Amino acid sequence: MKNKRGISMIKTKSEIEKIKISSQMVAKTLEMVGHHIKPGISTDEINHICHEYITKNLEATPACLNYKGFPKSICTSVNHVVCHGIPGPKILKSGDIINVDITIENDGYHGDSAKMFFVGKPSVLASRLVKVTQECLQLGIAQAKPGNTLGDIGHAIQTHAEKNNFSVVEEYCGHGIGKTLHEEPQVLHYGKPGQGMTIKEGMVFTIEPMINAGKKHNKLLADNWTVVTKDKSLSAQWEHTLAITKNGAEILTKRKEENT
Ligand code: MF3
Ligand code: CO
Ligand code: CO
Repeated sequence: MKNKRGISMIKTKSEIEKIKISSQMVAKTLEMVGHHIKPGISTDEINHICHEYITKNLEATPACLNYKGFPKSICTSVNHVVCHGIPGPKILKSGDIINVDITIENDGYHGDSAKMFFVGKPSVLASRLVKVTQECLQLGIAQAKPGNTLGDIGHAIQTHAEKNNFSVVEEYCGHGIGKTLHEEPQVLHYGKPGQGMTIKEGMVFTIEPMINAGKKHNKLLADNWTVVTKDKSLSAQWEHTLAITKNGAEILTKRKEENT
């Protein structure tokens, strides 16, 4: 089963091992940067800290840098920014929420994960949005097993988001990952049970739901990267890279804090 670029959707054990090494580098970087996220830091400083850690400590490559012209090493998406926020002079203040999305390439393979952080004390709405979005990711992961379909994943996410009066962003999706950052299949965060491709052992893909507190509609800023909610409502996103095994999904980007 090869896609149009000749990249198989089914990875070998040794490929999955390599994706796992890159994925664990992403997990470590997210753990590391969390200690720095507090009121007064700029998103550029967060970018710099991650860039230095990835290149010097991990001796790996921040794959977002120069990806299709993206100018920084990570994405930082604050408050109503949905995804692909570009680090810059913006200073974080108490009450902000920020998504840090990191992709690392090492030994020819990629890992990709994103986490939400609170800056100081969050509002009731912000903390509910961040919690529900993380639950959406977990519910999606629970559906990621052989024999299920990609639609089962999307349906689980959409149902949970809408039950909480939030909406699912439709323009951006999860993706296969390996030698390149974005491969087949596309993993939609909405859908119907039983629809779409059947999930098979050996697939490696991300699930990365973006959930808006208001309406689902977004717009792209003039920098051609930053995606914001049209109604300026808050948006949250969590992402993991997964390998499909006989028994379900192995979370390759799992952080220590998630081992409970
Ligand atoms: N990490 C993002 C994803 O989850 C991709 C960011 S591409 C960039 O797919 F160019 F914006 F960095
Ligand atoms: Co991704
Ligand atoms: Co990502």
